[in-house]
Amino acid sequence: MDNKRVLSGMRPTGKLHLGHLIGVLSNWSALQEDYDCIFSVADWHALTTKYNQTEKIQEYTREMVIDWLSAGIDPEKSIIHIQSDVAEIAELQLLFSMITSVSRLERNPTYKEQIEELGMKDSVPLGLLAYPVLQAADILIYKAGVVPVGKDQLPHVEITRDIARRFNHVYDTEVFPIPEPKLGEVPKLLGIDGRKMSKSYGNAIYLSDGKDQIAEKINEMVTDPKRIRLDDPGHPEVCSVFDYYQIFAKKEADEVATQCRQAELGCRDCKARMTDVVVDYMSEFHQRRAKFEQNPEIVDQILAKGAKKAREIANETLTEVRQIMNLEN
Ligand code: TRP
Ligand code: SF4
Repeated sequence: MDNKRVLSGMRPTGKLHLGHLIGVLSNWSALQEDYDCIFSVADWHALTTKYNQTEKIQEYTREMVIDWLSAGIDPEKSIIHIQSDVAEIAELQLLFSMITSVSRLERNPTYKEQIEELGMKDSVPLGLLAYPVLQAADILIYKAGVVPVGKDQLPHVEITRDIARRFNHVYDTEVFPIPEPKLGEVPKLLGIDGRKMSKSYGNAIYLSDGKDQIAEKINEMVTDPKRIRLDDPGHPEVCSVFDYYQIFAKKEADEVATQCRQAELGCRDCKARMTDVVVDYMSEFHQRRAKFEQNPEIVDQILAKGAKKAREIANETLTEVRQIMNLEN
């Protein structure tokens, strides 16, 4: 593959949890070895639904970037930046909006779900409808060829591909690559109540949680409901804690399953063991996080440097686009 540039982003809408670490950030951090990566804090995208809740955006942005850095996203290898630091993205979005049909955007399944969920059928912000156009500008301003995303983002990447093709066609150019989505392996992590881990369910182990909070939360996890007393044989296949063994401690999983079935291992001990496993899994992360928390100026420096590098690339693309569209005087 000749286009080795990767772009991905996340909206700063709250704290990240363990599911993000094993599902997204570990993929991003591995990609850095083989690609030129750009990671974007999509703060404008956060405004598409939270335009009236801007007080926390700064805090969420800083916290999220600290989580990225602690997970091994390395500013020496990758460009880490905030979307709104690169005004060129907004200009490209405006130009893309000229060649994008409203009905194409209205067919976007994510959009349909969202207006249904938020009950805003008659008051949809233009920015929400244009969400995928902004995402296309995010990706194409850097001419990224690869976009690592979860399944939920595939419709957006599809629209990006449409916009890239359409631009190239209308202006008879090959300026934009047609980017490929890259689905990472995402083990589904359960929350402490046995449902999928999610901030909105209040069942998450956050990346900012310390040892004690992790222990407390794992202690609260739902186990086999039929196992009431220590000498009841357990059914690990229905137990969330056992799920964690399969993700974080594969080698121990068989042994734990056997001991659980034979009522040789109590849930309390089993959970204490899992707490050690998770704390150990996160030890490097926690060490790094503590360092960034104590030195927030490092994060600011990284973001300033990232913005500068991102703007350089963005500017080059935009100059080309303006020339192609006869806008460059
Ligand atoms: N829309 C993405 C999400 O909600 C975040 C995002 C913004 C993104 N810009 C991007 C993802 C560019 C991939 C590429 O998860
Ligand atoms: Fe789950 Fe472990 Fe209890 Fe078995 S012993 S039910 S695997 S917590």
